[in-house]
Amino acid sequence: MIKISPSVLTADFLALDADIKKLESAGVDMLHLDVMDGVFVPNLSFGNPIIKSIKAHTKLPLDVHLMIDRPHRYIDEFAKYADYLSFHYEAGSDNAATLKRIRELGVKSAIVIKPCTGAEKIFDLLPLCDMVLVMSVEPGFGGQKFMPQALGKLSALKEECNRRGLDILLEVDGGINAETAPLAVEAGANVLVAGNYIFSAEDMAARVKEIKSI
Ligand code: DX5
Ligand code: ZN
Repeated sequence: MIKISPSVLTADFLALDADIKKLESAGVDMLHLDVMDGVFVPNLSFGNPIIKSIKAHTKLPLDVHLMIDRPHRYIDEFAKYADYLSFHYEAGSDNAATLKRIRELGVKSAIVIKPCTGAEKIFDLLPLCDMVLVMSVEPGFGGQKFMPQALGKLSALKEECNRRGLDILLEVDGGINAETAPLAVEAGANVLVAGNYIFSAEDMAARVKEIKSI
């Protein structure tokens, strides 16, 4: 079963409560929250106070994607409200220690790779992950075009998980729409992040159903 994790990055934050209710009734599986620090990525978004407020307004699991430098500094803070907590392989932490710490705090652990990072770089970390996130755009902005090189990485990760007997969620993030979602699923993704495609729609529920039916 494919899970949908809408990214609220391009949402209207003052209308978010109503939009979350619509997404809940449309049957989304989690909410994807993009945290950007203006250092690891050339953009700023929001931090834990906003995530805390969102948590109080929904029962949906929160899928928090940290695009921040040296993320180990903030793991304990974000673990208070996150259900899935992901950080970048490239961001300059002891990645194994950070993944272990996330699990210790009772949160599902995930590592993210940018388009320039090969899948094999994280093979040895897979036993510490509940989910892996493959970026299909350069992190930092919503509304970009899907990069097809993500597909080969998803297949390689799926194969490696099978080889190791690991049951890990494979998430893909960036440029997901009705054309790219089937490609990602075919390559092995089972969690699809979609920002613009859902939030730019007149009928968000229809878009969710469209992607869910893949
Ligand atoms: C980009 C973010 C994504 C983004 C996806 O850095 O990680 O989650 O919001 O947005 P779309 O689906 O519009 O590419
Ligand atoms: Zn994201």
